Amino acid sequence: MITSQELRKKWLQFYVDRGHIDIGAVSLVGDGTTGVMFNVAGMQPLMPYLLGEKHPKGKRLCNVQGCVRTVDIEEVGDSTHFTFFEMMGNWSLGDYFKKEKTAWSLEFLTNCLGLNKEKIVSTVFIGDANAPRDDETANYLLKLGIAKENIFYLDKKHNWWELEGSLNTPCGPDNEWFYPRTDVPCMHGEKCDVNCDCGRFVEIGNDVYMQYKKTENGYQELSKKNVDTGFGLDRLLAFLNGYTDGYKTDLFSDVIYLLEEKSGKSYNNGGENQRAMRIIADHIRTVVMLIGDENALKPSNTGAGYILRRLLRRAVRYCKKLALTLQDILSVATIYIDKVYGEAYPRLVKQKAEILKEISEEVTRFELTLEKGMKEFEKFMQAIERKNKYMLQQETTYKAQTELSGKQAFQLYETYGFPLELIEELAKERGYTVDKEGFDIAFKEHQQKSHATGQFKGGLADQSIQSTRLHTATHLLLAALQQTLSKDIIQKGSNITPERLRFDFNFDRPLTPEELRKIEALVNSKIQAKIPVVFAEMPAEEARAQGACGIFNDKYGDIVKTYKISDFSFEFCGGPHVENTGELGHFKIVKEQSSSSGIRRIKAILEE
Ligand code: ALA
Repeated sequence: MITSQELRKKWLQFYVDRGHIDIGAVSLVGDGTTGVMFNVAGMQPLMPYLLGEKHPKGKRLCNVQGCVRTVDIEEVGDSTHFTFFEMMGNWSLGDYFKKEKTAWSLEFLTNCLGLNKEKIVSTVFIGDANAPRDDETANYLLKLGIAKENIFYLDKKHNWWELEGSLNTPCGPDNEWFYPRTDVPCMHGEKCDVNCDCGRFVEIGNDVYMQYKKTENGYQELSKKNVDTGFGLDRLLAFLNGYTDGYKTDLFSDVIYLLEEKSGKSYNNGGENQRAMRIIADHIRTVVMLIGDENALKPSNTGAGYILRRLLRRAVRYCKKLALTLQDILSVATIYIDKVYGEAYPRLVKQKAEILKEISEEVTRFELTLEKGMKEFEKFMQAIERKNKYMLQQETTYKAQTELSGKQAFQLYETYGFPLELIEELAKERGYTVDKEGFDIAFKEHQQKSHATGQFKGGLADQSIQSTRLHTATHLLLAALQQTLSKDIIQKGSNITPERLRFDFNFDRPLTPEELRKIEALVNSKIQAKIPVVFAEMPAEEARAQGACGIFNDKYGDIVKTYKISDFSFEFCGGPHVENTGELGHFKIVKEQSSSSGIRRIKAILEE
């Protein structure tokens, strides 16, 4: 048994003993230099120093840094995804390199954490056109006594680290450390290795050898070679204590216990109650950290403040499912502040009253409208269901409506303060989707009206402009996929938040890193070419004859709206879109994964 505080201390002591200075953590809220809203990695605040600037505290640094990542927010609720987590890090700024780092990482894992050297598995970069195969690291590992069969060479997708979506940032090949669990057998058979997706091999941490700078024209060698190490505290803590479930550690156990007590529901039975408890525990933790941050975030309708609002409102909704109250939310926050994080983050204790007050006000604001909004949502649903039933009686081949209209969704957003994902989640629980294009149109119309009457609330505009840009980027992405992979590719699903686009399409294998790069480059070349996005209304037949893609759907009527981007892209679409591709910024794919059988999913962002 090892506690979170013991693990933090072990890490820092180990590196301080080896000449490192503990530089402490910085704000969780991004400083605006990297294009990301939050601090997403321990190296982020050290960017200028990794690129060559002199750090006032020297060449050997370490810390434990909080990170916030909300790209995977929909996955929170399982046993491993968190929106806040801590990264234990250490750095060499042009000082020691692979020889020392491999030795220290191994020493930490074996001597300090008691892991068995024979079982440790390590992966290194296999090499590509940009950077050579990392035999140097592999040789050091061999010399240190890691068995040859426990060293694996993997490709860029696995053994290369760079800050997603950012240019002029340091990056390089990495050396990852894994350990096999003994309590989880391989689900595919007896023997498996680190390439297996059975979850038996736990990633413990990684050492990035930052030798390159990512630029618009590829990777440039840096004059100084750095080491950037990151070991995720939350995950490592669970592993060391023998848990596959990250919520079983001391970071969460008191909170989960409280949620069980107050709701009268059991966590260990799995299912929806467990998922709800995890979402509440995760989201409230991040909320506490963000409000208690040195940049004291407040819920709002823009940027990072909007993410905070969404996290808290989403948590409130799950609290309702478990019949938990504002008082329970405040008790959860208090556990984090007083018991779990108070010692490592004394600022939280100082700011306790402020944190509880902000949470309390935001929850109260939302609760005032939540119930009415839920009633309205029910009304919308019942009306659709009534119509479906009636139509089916008239005509057995009638295709039931399974979509909440954009106007209705916008009403829930505007009048009751329901964040869009919340509306989508509610709809999904009933087997419905939300017309997001229609939502964006309603949003824009509302904005224009508010402009006209002088009541415009600045904040909302940013959200919508960003979504509009991502909309146009989605068209470029589809065309690029068709051109790069196959002309038969069609849209199978699309979902846009102000932060990212998500696009599903038919394709039966993972894309290669090479293909992903090509697609990205093609989209970016169309952005750089500053092509006008031309809107036209025409009869559906004519659009079809001209080769427009998109689903021909009655709801568009006979005259359809189309958007054309030179000869590259031509789609039916309700919009809205930017006027010129030059408005998009830099396009970056952040994830490519399977969505369901035969369907792939890409998540991408636009950076300024
Ligand atoms: N920067 C590396 C990471 O985030 C260490 O994993």
